[in-house]
Amino acid sequence: METKKTLLKEKFEENRKAFAEQMKQQQTIFSNMNSIKKRIAVWSGKGGVGKTFFTVQLAYALKKFTKKRIGILDADIDCPNITKIMKIDEKLKGMQNENLIYPVEKNGLQVVSMGSVFQKEDDTVTWRGPMISGTITQFLLMVKWAVDYLVIDMPPGTSDAPLTVAQQVKPTGLIIVTTSEPMALLDARRSLKFAEIMKIPVLGIVENMSGDIFGKGGGTKLAEEFNVPFFGSIPLDKKIQKYVQTGTPLCETKEYGELFEEIVGKLEK
Ligand SMILES: Nc1ncnc2c1ncn2[C@@H]1O[C@H](COP(=O)(O)OP(=O)(O)OP(=O)(O)O)[C@@H](O)[C@H]1O
Ligand SMILES: [Mg+2]
Repeated sequence: METKKTLLKEKFEENRKAFAEQMKQQQTIFSNMNSIKKRIAVWSGKGGVGKTFFTVQLAYALKKFTKKRIGILDADIDCPNITKIMKIDEKLKGMQNENLIYPVEKNGLQVVSMGSVFQKEDDTVTWRGPMISGTITQFLLMVKWAVDYLVIDMPPGTSDAPLTVAQQVKPTGLIIVTTSEPMALLDARRSLKFAEIMKIPVLGIVENMSGDIFGKGGGTKLAEEFNVPFFGSIPLDKKIQKYVQTGTPLCETKEYGELFEEIVGKLEK
C-alpha cells in the first residue's frame, strides 16, 4: 500500500514538473513572438500555387519599401524550399545549452529554415505530425529574432503544421495565395474558413499564376465573397521563372516593381 502511494506521488511530481516546463516554454515562445510587430503567414490549402515564391518576393518587397527588419520562417519542415529559392548554403548556428538559434542572413533578410539544418540539399525526413509540429515549436522557442516583420512560409493543408503556427505564432495576419483554378480556389476557401475558426485576420488574397493556363479573376471573386482585400494578380510568366532562377527580387524589376510596391502599400494600410 505504502509503495503504491509513493509511486503515485512520484508520478504526480513528474507530471507537475513536465507541465511547469511546458508552461515555461509557452511563455518563452509568446514573448519571442510578441517581440515581432507583424507576423504574416502566407498560406493556401493547395500545394504548388506559389506560397514559397510569394513569401520570398514579399519579404524582399517589405524590406525595400518599408525599410524595416524582415525575417522569414520556413514552416514547411519536410520540404523546406526557402533555402533553395534564396540560394542559401549556410547552416543554422546556435548554442544548444543556451537554447539559442541564430537566423541565417541573406541579402539583408533573416532566415530560418529546416533547409539550413539538413546536411545535404535532398535530405529527407519521414516524420509523423507531432515531430513536424515539435520542430516548429523548437524553432519558435530557440530562435531569437531581431526583426520588425516575420513572413512565414506555410506548408499546404489546414492541419498539423498550420495549426501549430496558428496557435503558437499567433499570426497578426494571413495572406492567401491561390490560382484561379477551381481546385486551388476550393482549398483557398478552406484556408479562409480555417482563418475564421482560428480568429486570424485575413490581410488579403493574391492570385498567382494568373493567365491562360489556370485562368484569371477567381482571386478577385473570392476576395469579394469573403469581404477581404484583393492584393493583386501575378501572371504565370516565363520571365518570372528566369528572375527566380537568377535570384532577382521581383520588386527590383521593371515589370513587377510597381505591383509589389502596391502590395506592400495595401499591407501597410
Ligand atoms: N507567377 C509565377 N510565374 C512563374 N513561375 C512561378 C510563379 N509562381 C510560382 N512559380 C514557380 O512555381 C513553382 C511552385 O511554386 P512554390 O514552390 O512557391 O509553390 P508552393 O505553394 O510553395 O508549393 P508547396 O505547396 O509545395 O510548398 C516554383 O517553381 C515557383 O518558382
Ligand atoms: Mg512551398
